Amino acid sequence: MSAQISGISSTCSTASCKDHSLRLGFDSLSSNRATSISFSSQLNTNLSIKSLETRRRHKTSKICSAVIVESNSEQMELDTSLSPRVNSVKPSKTVAITDQATALVEAGVPVIRLAAGEPDFDTPSVIAEAGINAIREGFTRYTPNAGTLELRTAICKKLKDENDISYTPDQVVVSNGAKQSILQAILAVCSPGDEVIIPAPFWVSYPEMARLADATPVILPARISENFLLDPKLLESKLTEKSRLLILCSPSNPTGSVYPKKLLEQIAQVVAKHPRLLVLSDEIYEHIIYSPAVHTSFASLPGMWERTLTVNGFSKAFAMTGWRLGYIAGPKHFVAACNKIQSQSTSGASSIAQKAAVAALGMGHAGGAAVSQMVKAFRERRDFLVKAFGELDGVKISEPQGAFYLFLDFSYYYGNEVDGFGLINDSESLCRYLLEKGQVALVPGDAFGDDTCIRISYAASLSTLQAAFERIKKAVLTLKS
Ligand SMILES: Cc1ncc(COP(=O)(O)O)c(C=O)c1O
Repeated sequence: MSAQISGISSTCSTASCKDHSLRLGFDSLSSNRATSISFSSQLNTNLSIKSLETRRRHKTSKICSAVIVESNSEQMELDTSLSPRVNSVKPSKTVAITDQATALVEAGVPVIRLAAGEPDFDTPSVIAEAGINAIREGFTRYTPNAGTLELRTAICKKLKDENDISYTPDQVVVSNGAKQSILQAILAVCSPGDEVIIPAPFWVSYPEMARLADATPVILPARISENFLLDPKLLESKLTEKSRLLILCSPSNPTGSVYPKKLLEQIAQVVAKHPRLLVLSDEIYEHIIYSPAVHTSFASLPGMWERTLTVNGFSKAFAMTGWRLGYIAGPKHFVAACNKIQSQSTSGASSIAQKAAVAALGMGHAGGAAVSQMVKAFRERRDFLVKAFGELDGVKISEPQGAFYLFLDFSYYYGNEVDGFGLINDSESLCRYLLEKGQVALVPGDAFGDDTCIRISYAASLSTLQAAFERIKKAVLTLKS
């Protein structure tokens, strides 16, 4: 029996339903009204009746969203409400802006896209060849859930040689991207009500992933004058018995900051006082680092191995975003829990990508010559942008030491009204203005927890960045004039 959506009923009476509005249409079905809906006696419809009534009995789930559907020419209301878990999660702004910019480009508007977080380089050919060979040789079946032993062994060797941390293959789980590794880790260790400590500016997904786990994100701001690095004293003052997970990201998306070893040691001293507190160390930009900055793995610090979950991946350093491959390494107890979640969701990562990743790890220390060439190009671009924006009135900069983002304080340009546009008073309106008037796509800082800033991804050629800078400069100077 097929049901057709014939109409949308609307208006939700409860405040919580309004908060959850999804532009679908909302209905405040009272229990009385809901039970008076007439249903046919067909099998599927009976099932619907049961599921609606079950939910209605549950204290927290009022039906607050419904559409009218036609079923065997009778009309009925179908509960379209979503789980509170999903309703508490914000969609990713980086993805939204990238999509908006792409749509503009497809409509013929020559937008320069500097919003996406992916290298503009091709995957190095030795990696691509390994993937092609995997297909040719029929390496196209399910792999073990945690990843092939070959890849996990190679990851252990890399972590020992480059990061001075010892793991065995059963302490590593390979996933479809570091994003999945992080989500699984949060789901594995956080109980409802636990606090996830997140220094801001943060990668957009951390707080939302905490919410998905019914945990509470606790945001600790770090200022541009402190190079966006977490102050251990602030950390100490915010930790409670509910604090379960501290998330560190170095080099950082969106700021490019790199935590010096000394500062990590101070943070470790604070962490060590809290027996419940674990640390998730997101090291995905590890290789994209500009000397003299040096990467330190948090798990390598004294006493931290037991409580650290180290996340890394292939997307950024090896220009493999589309291959979808990341991993987590940590004490077996936690990693096995991540593995269990993965076994009931996606299973093992792509067999082909895993063969390619083995080749990536075989390219030499820190990715060898191919990666260092990309890092050299990123560095030139960073130097250009830091100098150019440094000469622009009112812009505040913390020079990035790694990754490929510049997180600039543009709040000097807030507070201006633009004819036909409106007031520019925050990072979102500034980015909309820069997209519409300047035709450059950037990400507003509020998505990363700092509304004074905007993020520029410099994963684009130097000439593109020069053109983008000129457009941004012209647009913001128009604002001040
Ligand atoms: C800080 C950080 N961590 C993790 C990821 C996830 O990377 P992936 O899922 O592509 O491995 C990203 C991607 O943008 C990131 O910026």
